[in-house]
Amino acid sequence: VVLYLQLRKNGGIIVAGKGFKVAIIGCGFVGASAAFAMSINNLVSEMVLIDVNKEKAYGEALDINHGLSFVGQMNVYSGDYSDCKDCDVIVITAGANRKPGETRLDLAKKNVSIMKDITANIMKYYTKGVILVVSNPVDILTYMVQKWTGLPASKVLGSGTVLDSSRFRNQIANILSVDVKNVHGYIIGEHGDSQLPIWSATHIAGTKFDDYVAKNNIVVDKEQILNDVKTAGAVIIKNKGATYYGIALSINRICESLLKNYKTIMPIGTVINGPYGINDVALSLPAIVSGNGIEKILEIDLTDEELKGLLHSADQIKLVLNEVKD
Ligand code: NAI
Ligand code: 2OP
Repeated sequence: VVLYLQLRKNGGIIVAGKGFKVAIIGCGFVGASAAFAMSINNLVSEMVLIDVNKEKAYGEALDINHGLSFVGQMNVYSGDYSDCKDCDVIVITAGANRKPGETRLDLAKKNVSIMKDITANIMKYYTKGVILVVSNPVDILTYMVQKWTGLPASKVLGSGTVLDSSRFRNQIANILSVDVKNVHGYIIGEHGDSQLPIWSATHIAGTKFDDYVAKNNIVVDKEQILNDVKTAGAVIIKNKGATYYGIALSINRICESLLKNYKTIMPIGTVINGPYGINDVALSLPAIVSGNGIEKILEIDLTDEELKGLLHSADQIKLVLNEVKD
């Protein structure tokens, strides 16, 4: 307990000047990895780790502190909900994770009640900033948190299909043997089984995906790519019990765009009312992410088949939402 207090006090004294403050609620595999990623990126001046398991939060904060001499000074400490005051971003990664054989949607009921409690605690101290929901099922929880907080939809984000889109790009980069940064493409809809790629907007350094593979005589199995992306989380869980590095870097990237006002276009989760005629559900669509949160949802052109897939995905999420809404 003494050490815990010292860590906070020292951190508070050392950091001078104005910087960004982020809270991470839930310091398990995902929360701790995200905190580590953000520390390496030297993204914030103040980072508070909050967990129902206070020892875990304290241990993670201490461990990250011991690496700061290599990355730069930051005020990293474990705290409580009162530390959500003045945060620029509050990341929620608390809750149970998916067990082998369990779908993301199976988790809904379990994590909705945990999240209701967490949201109430955050809102006692919330003054400003964006809430980023990562816990699964992320689309369901993003929707519920937005409703419970009453904040504008642009201020409550879900990590959505940012991770799936990164997996999609990685998969294509490996198949085409090109740098992943030259691959642009989005997975949209549910962070789950009904997700879909926008093939018509997928390109390799400006060349449409279909043209690129045709010109280079590369045979691709699009169904296989989609299936590999969809099942990626389950494959990792089967092999190592949980997924956390990919999502940690996704969280870092989303926070970077929020904090530095990068206006990065990414397939972010948000409550949708209007685009493509979809209403009253949270799912992922490409959007501009700025210092204000979601600046604008881009209603990019979809083929008829893609639109059908997106509407189906919205319906699938709504089926679960209807079971958990209070
Ligand atoms: P974990 O079990 O390692 O950590 C969860 C942490 O939440 C634990 O430290 C636990 O003490 C804490 N916690 C539980 N109830 C709490 C409460 N009421 N208040 C504060 N803290 C509480 O789980 P892991 O692997 O870190 O996963 C966390 C969540 O992230 C899961 O829901 C998982 O499915 C999700 N996830 C989401 C991804 C995405 O792309 N959206 C990717 C990977 C995981
Ligand atoms: C993932 O896709 C399990 O949602 C988690 O890695």
